[in-house]
Amino acid sequence: MSARVAVYAGSFDPIHNGHLDIIDRCRPLFDKVIVAVLHNEAKSALFSSEERVAMIGELLADRPGCRVVSFSGLLVDFMARMRARTVIRGLRAVSDFEYEFQMALMNRNLAPKIETVFLVPAFDLTFVSSSLVREVARYGGEVGELVHPAVAAALRRHYAP
Ligand code: PNS
Repeated sequence: MSARVAVYAGSFDPIHNGHLDIIDRCRPLFDKVIVAVLHNEAKSALFSSEERVAMIGELLADRPGCRVVSFSGLLVDFMARMRARTVIRGLRAVSDFEYEFQMALMNRNLAPKIETVFLVPAFDLTFVSSSLVREVARYGGEVGELVHPAVAAALRRHYAP
């Protein structure tokens, strides 16, 4: 039987505890989990894709079966290269649903064999998003409970006066 490979795709700018919670929920369900970091030339990010990959790699070091790869272009093309058929996405609230539903159907339209599986994070992490983490960190707020210490340190370095 071929290995069950899941691709958890996103921007991860930066990765936060909600993302890590989804990765940990995914691990028992699949043989391999590939965290796929979007490298988007057209959109400016706080951390470069190289920085995001390095940060995530550090957090995956003690999570066997997981690895991180950056990709550009269509997710379905990346999935084909990885020989993966399952996209993982986190669903935090109803507000996420419309965008996620549209994206899942577009990916199915492009590649009918690919399925999107939605996982729900721990309830106390449902309010965490990368954009809010960036905003709080930018103005010197405390994000230590929302991100891994290595990510908090990277944010502090980034926003240091
Ligand atoms: O964390 P995000 O920003 O919500 O992740 C969105 C992501 C990276 C999964 C999505 O933008 C994506 O798959 N981009 C690659 C381009 C693509 O395939 N677009 C068509 C999908 S509808």
